[in-house]
Amino acid sequence: MAVLEVLAYPNEFLRKKAQPVTRFDEPLRTLVKDMEDTMAAEDGVGLAATQIGADLQLLLVHPYAFKGDEARDEPVLVVINPEVAWESPERITAEEGCLSFPDVFIQVSRPAKVRIRALDLEGRPFEVEGEGLGARALLHEVDHLNGVVMIDHVSFLSRQRALKKHQKNQADLVAAAKKKKAEAAKAPKV
Ligand code: NI
Repeated sequence: MAVLEVLAYPNEFLRKKAQPVTRFDEPLRTLVKDMEDTMAAEDGVGLAATQIGADLQLLLVHPYAFKGDEARDEPVLVVINPEVAWESPERITAEEGCLSFPDVFIQVSRPAKVRIRALDLEGRPFEVEGEGLGARALLHEVDHLNGVVMIDHVSFLSRQRALKKHQKNQADLVAAAKKKKAEAAKAPKV
């Protein structure tokens, strides 16, 4: 089990357009396994390779996004080299979060339904449809592979508010880590 570090905004890697996957080999399977472990550890519904610093068009979505709680133990959906084949004209605005913006939630408008064409872990083509949270998660992760993040979809004011919250959260994390380090330094070494 390997839990990878999730890059936080504004890491510039998050703005990179990912390269297509061309080799469906053991290193790719290991990366997917590590991303699954990372997604589970962070309690995420989806994760894009971009977020862990891998320059590959690869994303994961938890089956929970499609089927809810009953799918908790089903295998994670692996989506490689995705293309958006169809989006519904109907849109839904709902709260959205991102592991690259821990504890920041914003209202984002997305198509209500989507169909994605992609390859699986063996390089075989397949299609997946998502509705509601399923569509939202797929489109959010496809965005990551194109260097797009959730705050790009909202108004200037919402973006400013989200960034302010994000900066405060990041500063709090740094302060907490410093405090922990200082306490560890004070502890008796026996
Ligand atoms: Ni995200």
